Amino acid sequence: MRYLITSALPYANGGVHIGHLAGVYIPSDIYTRYLRLRGHDVIHVCGSDEHGVPITLKAKAEGVTPQDIVDRYNKIIGDSFREFGIAFDIYSRTSSETHRETASDFFKHLLDKGEFIEQTSEQYFDTEANQFLADRYITGDCPKCGASGAYGDQCEKCGSTLSPMELKSPKSAISGSTPEIRKTKHWYLPLDKHEQFLKEWILEGHKEWKPNVYGQCKSWLDGGLQPRAVSRDLDWGIPVPVEGADGKVLYVWFDAPIGYISATKDLTPEWETYWKDPETKMVHFIGKDNIVFHCIVFPAMLRAHGGYNLPENVPANEFLNLEGDKISTSRGWAVWLDEYLKEFEGKQDVLRYALCATAPETKDNDFTWKDFQTRNNSELVAILGNFVNRALVLIGKYFDGKVPTRDDLTQTDRDTLSQIATFRAAVEKNLETYHFREALFEMMNIARLGNKYLADEEPWKVIKTDEQRTATILNVAVQIVASLSIAMEPFLPFSAEKLRKMLGIEKIEWNRLGDDELLVVGHSLGKAELLFEKIEDEVIEAQVAKLTAIRQKRDEEAAAGEPESRIEPQKATIEYDDFAKLDIRVGKVLEAELVPKTDKLMKLTVDTGIDVRTIVSGIAQHFSVEQMVGRQVTVLVNLAPRKMRGIESEGMLLFASDADSGKLINVTADAEITAGSSVN
Ligand code: 2FM
Ligand code: ZN
Repeated sequence: MRYLITSALPYANGGVHIGHLAGVYIPSDIYTRYLRLRGHDVIHVCGSDEHGVPITLKAKAEGVTPQDIVDRYNKIIGDSFREFGIAFDIYSRTSSETHRETASDFFKHLLDKGEFIEQTSEQYFDTEANQFLADRYITGDCPKCGASGAYGDQCEKCGSTLSPMELKSPKSAISGSTPEIRKTKHWYLPLDKHEQFLKEWILEGHKEWKPNVYGQCKSWLDGGLQPRAVSRDLDWGIPVPVEGADGKVLYVWFDAPIGYISATKDLTPEWETYWKDPETKMVHFIGKDNIVFHCIVFPAMLRAHGGYNLPENVPANEFLNLEGDKISTSRGWAVWLDEYLKEFEGKQDVLRYALCATAPETKDNDFTWKDFQTRNNSELVAILGNFVNRALVLIGKYFDGKVPTRDDLTQTDRDTLSQIATFRAAVEKNLETYHFREALFEMMNIARLGNKYLADEEPWKVIKTDEQRTATILNVAVQIVASLSIAMEPFLPFSAEKLRKMLGIEKIEWNRLGDDELLVVGHSLGKAELLFEKIEDEVIEAQVAKLTAIRQKRDEEAAAGEPESRIEPQKATIEYDDFAKLDIRVGKVLEAELVPKTDKLMKLTVDTGIDVRTIVSGIAQHFSVEQMVGRQVTVLVNLAPRKMRGIESEGMLLFASDADSGKLINVTADAEITAGSSVN
């Protein structure tokens, strides 16, 4: 089988952090290494995404050129990937000549085929900077959530996709001035033209795609596709290859995926076999924010062009959080790969392991340093390292480091050896369906199997009475170690290599995993070393302390910040009829008691004027029982009853939640009002 694996091209305006690694590059690397070991013809391409407004903004802020920025980060990112063993066949870049030519030709081909529509639209223009304000060059208040600092293409606060004209109080990110509106012409890819095809191809043809990917595609497709502009008025990017289109470049999301094609061209003259031969399977590894571009826009481009394969699968991951908070590069809330390597020298595999074990495969997931430590100490050291070490050290001690002879196998020996094949099949099944966490677990099961075998057979005791049986036990154990060295390779390539050295062997192909005579009798093993070392508490505490300092700084800034930022934005408009359904009354609390074993809940007996009923309310941290008894309260009386801690609550008490302090304040007037009076 032939495979073309692509990994999302990271923007060359910052380093790579654990979120990138867990979401995209660890899975794509594991997958690629696995396919290679199986003997498939596979190439894995990546490179940096070097166009787009964030790069020019960063250059401006630093007083350097965009080229300086991308040169710097292309190197930093490429180095990080290499150091973590991410096995690309090529790490290319979109500022290369090959890419400029490839993307230009792609555009021209679509233009000549009549696959674009040209449209003149109104766009913001900064008269001070004398330029149009595309994407992130324009900022303003988010029309959806009200947050300030939303960008022309997206609000980072609420995640909504935006267009510049939707922003409230728009401002130029270049000069800060209020922009004027001018007309400008652009080329659009009419996605609507491809909608029917995409619906059939994805919704009918790829039901096996991960639910998060399929679901996002479905919601885009159900919502109806619109033409998308593929050019921008900017001076950084690939010039639109059309006479008279000065000052216009290809939109970064038009050229970036073509970067996969140019990277393949730079890698091999056979590039067309990987892109055009229907026998090749193309798989895009990406993060969830890239789904629409890889499942809808790029396939539409490829189809419009003609002659190209479409992806076989797009196994996108969700996002990884760090210690409970969203990773944020601007706040420094991240673990950067280059920093990690300085502090955990030689421990690439530990991070690879921890990130694969907590990969955000189906939902956002959380990386914590504590979990990292546990994964290392209780799994890599205690299970994998321990088994390998015991087997090799005992062979060194009793048999001079040579694979011992094997006598008749017992039923347990045979069962143990045949179990390897079961775990191998489970690893394969999971890898082939992009379940990397489960695959990792099944790989570790081979080490668990080995540990159990040694613990049950106790060669250190048997040696006292029966050397031949000890030899057999250790022969079986070292065959398990050898199989493990194959199974580890996709996940823990550095440790697999170290283990191969200890075993005195070269890389063995995947198909021999489970073979019960991988090592022949008499084969000399290398020197036994520890595969993994325990990570002490102090080391972890130092990492946590670094993050705590960042969190404190943020909290202090937030406390000193503007109070209006805590006022929630207005909710979506409702009709009068919706409002009229609410039955809100003044009530009086007759009795109150705390609900046992909770901090927040209070059980109240309330005279609603209509009846006397029980209401459970989460107010115990704001009011005492004494403060509540006899008090007038505002009650939503027609809320469907629901059980809280086994108590049926028949309504809801309403309070104001103070925007500054978060305290609850009773909103009923001081004057005595007859219970049952309506609030409307
Ligand atoms: O989201 C990102 O980081 C983009 N630079 C990914 C681009 S992927 C591909 F299409 F190039
Ligand atoms: Zn928003």
